[in-house]
This record gives sequence, structure tokens and C-alpha cells, in this order.
Amino acid sequence: MIGRLNHVAIAVPDLEAATAQYRDTLGAIVNPPQDEPDHGVTVVFIELPNTKIELLHPLGEGSPIAGFLEKNPSGGIHHICYEVEDILSARDRLQSSGARVLGTGEPRIGAHGKPVLFLHPKDFTGTLVELEQV
Ligand code: CO
Repeated sequence: MIGRLNHVAIAVPDLEAATAQYRDTLGAIVNPPQDEPDHGVTVVFIELPNTKIELLHPLGEGSPIAGFLEKNPSGGIHHICYEVEDILSARDRLQSSGARVLGTGEPRIGAHGKPVLFLHPKDFTGTLVELEQV
């Protein structure tokens, strides 16, 4: 059911420093920061030949990233995103196998303008999983 790895998201306490590290030290292609107020994050997309890295930084009150950074002050991998062809059929299949979909269970429009869902990390070996319809 899942296809390509779309991205790995890393929560970072200092977006500028992390961006500079990927650009200057690791020599990656980095894009300008993008505010995603609906998701409470500022995102920097880093383009790799086979996938993307997303640097996440809290934006506004009640950002889901703020609590993560409190527990992981130097940052850390926040979630991984797999591509699916049909997000609703993927959701139904997962729910019928007992997996928990976060939020209302309805897909939201993610940072790339495509429908996304998040799956409970406790159901997936401690990893927050995002599904994105491509
Ligand atoms: Co993501």
C-alpha cells in the first residue's frame, strides 16, 4: 500500500542554524522558510536526489512542535511521510486493522498542498507516520 518515502521531518530549535548546516556543511539544496499557520509550523524543505527533508520549527501558540522540542531540546526526527495513491482507502484499511488516525480522521491539506493523515506513533513502533496522497 505505501509507496515512496516522501520526506523525513526533523524538529529543530534553531531553524536558521539547521538550514545553514544542511546548506553549508552538508551541501544540500535548501528552500526558503515557509510559514504553515494551519499546522503551527515554519518549514524549510531540503531537496535530496531521492527524497526530501523537512525542518520544522514552531509557529504561533499551541504548535504541535513546541511540546516535541520541550522533550527533545536539541531537536529530533518528528515524523516520516509515505506516499499512498488513495488516502481514504489507506485510512479505511488501517482503521479496520486497529490503527489510530490522529485528529478527526479526515485528511487535511498538508505542506505540499496534498491530502495528508497522521497515524498514532504507538501503533507504528514509536514513529509518527504521515501518509500523503500523491
Ligand atoms: Co510531513
